Amino acid sequence: MTDQPYPTPAAPAHLGNTEARFGAVAKTFHWLTALLILTMIPLGILAQYWPYDTSEALAVKADLFSLHKTLGLVTFAVALARILWALIQPRPALLPTGSRVQSFAAETVHFALYGALVLVPLTGWIHHAASTGFAPIWWPFGQTLPFVPQSQPVADAFAGLHLVFNIVLVLSLVAHIGGALKHHVIDRDATLKRMLPGNCALPDELPSKQTHAAPIVAAIAVWGMAVAAGLGVGLAGERTRAAEPALEAVPSQWVVQDGTLAITVQQLNQPVTGRFADWTAAIDFEERATDGVHGDVSVTVAIPSLSLGGVTTQALAPDFLNADAFATATFSGPIRATETGYVVDGTLDMVGQSVPLRLPFDLVIVGDTATATGTAMIDRRDFAMGPTYRDEATVGFTVTVDVALTATRSAE
Ligand code: HEM
Ligand code: HEM
Repeated sequence: MTDQPYPTPAAPAHLGNTEARFGAVAKTFHWLTALLILTMIPLGILAQYWPYDTSEALAVKADLFSLHKTLGLVTFAVALARILWALIQPRPALLPTGSRVQSFAAETVHFALYGALVLVPLTGWIHHAASTGFAPIWWPFGQTLPFVPQSQPVADAFAGLHLVFNIVLVLSLVAHIGGALKHHVIDRDATLKRMLPGNCALPDELPSKQTHAAPIVAAIAVWGMAVAAGLGVGLAGERTRAAEPALEAVPSQWVVQDGTLAITVQQLNQPVTGRFADWTAAIDFEERATDGVHGDVSVTVAIPSLSLGGVTTQALAPDFLNADAFATATFSGPIRATETGYVVDGTLDMVGQSVPLRLPFDLVIVGDTATATGTAMIDRRDFAMGPTYRDEATVGFTVTVDVALTATRSAE
């Protein structure tokens, strides 16, 4: 508790650390990461809470996220360089001002922060790579990662981890900055000064009183708990998504054994493909036509069963599929032959609108098994979807519907 505990003269500035001082490189790394991290946190929150109720607002939100992701990777690179540098340098011991408990807490927070410098950007990156659509990283190296599948459960899990890891980061920073200020204002020691540019009076060696093992173990325990909490948060989101009512099976002459009902939208001029997990089809089909008609088809789709990359929530919102008000869509119509295959000239009932829709498809029947694939185009404006997205800059007008199914002839 003295104003000048180490009256040795100031040493010339070094690039590297000594047992008592941070060198210029470590200081530069520290304040550069501090600047980046303290920019990234508000940027992430701003992007997350930015509205997307108009085309203009969505475009700004996408830019905020792209900036967040790109700057986040810059932060990641700087953080890795910083950690490499710290590993090959002597680590200045804490000044012997605080109690053992305080030193233990300070060191635990330091290791928690080192962990955050890796884990926070890494989980954000994996979340991004597992999602499809929305806000690219502004770089030419691709948007995916090897070994990371593009899958909604993986994306949800890593969104949960990114969120909880950020909470650990913020809590650690509150303790870290509070501790630095306490040393400066109350203890009046050189803790803050030795991290600031320039020299301060310090000996070249300090009585080392800390062991690194216990704080490292404590920091690992903190991160272990954060992993459990993050996965809990991520999977809770996944369970809410899975708890949708299932459609009841319908009687059908041809019973669908296996199939996909996919849609592709253009989001910021990038295709985003998703699927309805739950739909039923009642199909009547005879190889021989009666009055030019081979049969008819009636498809019912559970709208909330859609997953559409990173934009599922937006797609199900009231201004698009309005899943809360219109839980199902139906498509039905007669099947006719064309020169190249077949076509259903039917009607699509969706979001309270009834619009004619033509679905050409190819059909191969072998014995009692039929395989059909077809593609239809919908214009979202016909269904008054996304009325505030007046142009195609953020959300394209055309939605492509791809159907592929295998059905078997039922015994009756
Ligand atoms: C205004 C914000 C900040 C202040 C005032 C501050 C202050 C300090 C000070 C004074 C030290 C030296 C501690 C000592 O002498 O033992 C330090 C070390 C450290 N700081 Fe910060 N810091 C800030 C932001 C951050 C941020 C954002 C991070 C990273 C997420 C960070 C990570 C670290 C780490 C890991 C160490 C330990 C370095 C080592 O001993 O290996 N700091 N900080
Ligand atoms: C040190 C770097 C980073 C910090 C401090 C940071 C911080 C944040 C914060 C505070 C949020 C809002 C809270 C949340 O929902 O999690 C957020 C969200 C997000 N961040 Fe980061 N982030 C970093 C790096 C990255 C990187 C590198 C990426 C992707 C390449 C990324 C992608 C995202 C995404 C996609 C979200 C939205 C999460 C969601 O939809 O739930 N972040 N970030």
